[in-house]
Amino acid sequence: MEIIKVNNYEEMSKTAAEYIIRKVRQFPEATFGLATGSTPVGTYKRLIEDHRENGTSYKKVATFNLDEYIGLSGENPQSYRYFMDSQLFNHLDIRKENTFVPSGSAEDLAGECRNYESKLKNHGGIDLQILGIGNNGHIGFNEPGTSFLSKTHIVDLADSTIKANARFFNTIEEVPTQAITMGIATIMQSREILLLASGEAKADAIGQLLGNGVNEQFPASVLRNHPNVKVIADKAALSASKVRV
Ligand code: GLP
Repeated sequence: MEIIKVNNYEEMSKTAAEYIIRKVRQFPEATFGLATGSTPVGTYKRLIEDHRENGTSYKKVATFNLDEYIGLSGENPQSYRYFMDSQLFNHLDIRKENTFVPSGSAEDLAGECRNYESKLKNHGGIDLQILGIGNNGHIGFNEPGTSFLSKTHIVDLADSTIKANARFFNTIEEVPTQAITMGIATIMQSREILLLASGEAKADAIGQLLGNGVNEQFPASVLRNHPNVKVIADKAALSASKVRV
């Protein structure tokens, strides 16, 4: 795991965006795995700026998002589909039909999980996966205890995740209690992974990630077994890590 230490959120966003832009230019047909949450918003802003100013094209790019809340349709402003459209896709020349987010309102959710895996397979898998990290070490919505062998599946959200994500909703009661997420094994099949972390709130999680041990109680620790992971973290996020970077 390579650790790239940066000063703050802005620098993290710039570093991540530059990395993604280089990938798209070198490999215009790349498939990206994308994340939601506050962490990647600054990165997405920079991709949009670069697209406007320098014309980097996403016409041939495909994207697969990590997760979606169950019970929310894509028109719901709290859904991850809506988030991705408004924060990124609507501002690039990407073809909407090449942007995949699991459907949290599908009638057959188990079928939706299987479909998502086969669509991903048909696209040849993920070239570069962008990840954030939950305070409890979750990646996507893979909460502590999730099997490292898991594929796209339905999860019950941990109370701490519901609390952390309540900031996006009017009341905590509105936060869905279930989600559909790419599994740990799905994420691990990505050829390359960029994990982003910023701020003191992530310091403990990053400390554990960079500490010793790989175990299912701390889902992100599985990344230690992946051959091509870069962690772009700012000073605050690295403040509880013992590693020297
Ligand atoms: C959410 C998402 C994750 C995200 C994480 C951190 O629950 N499901 O994909 O990486 O929590 O979110 P944030 O970037 O807002 O801290």
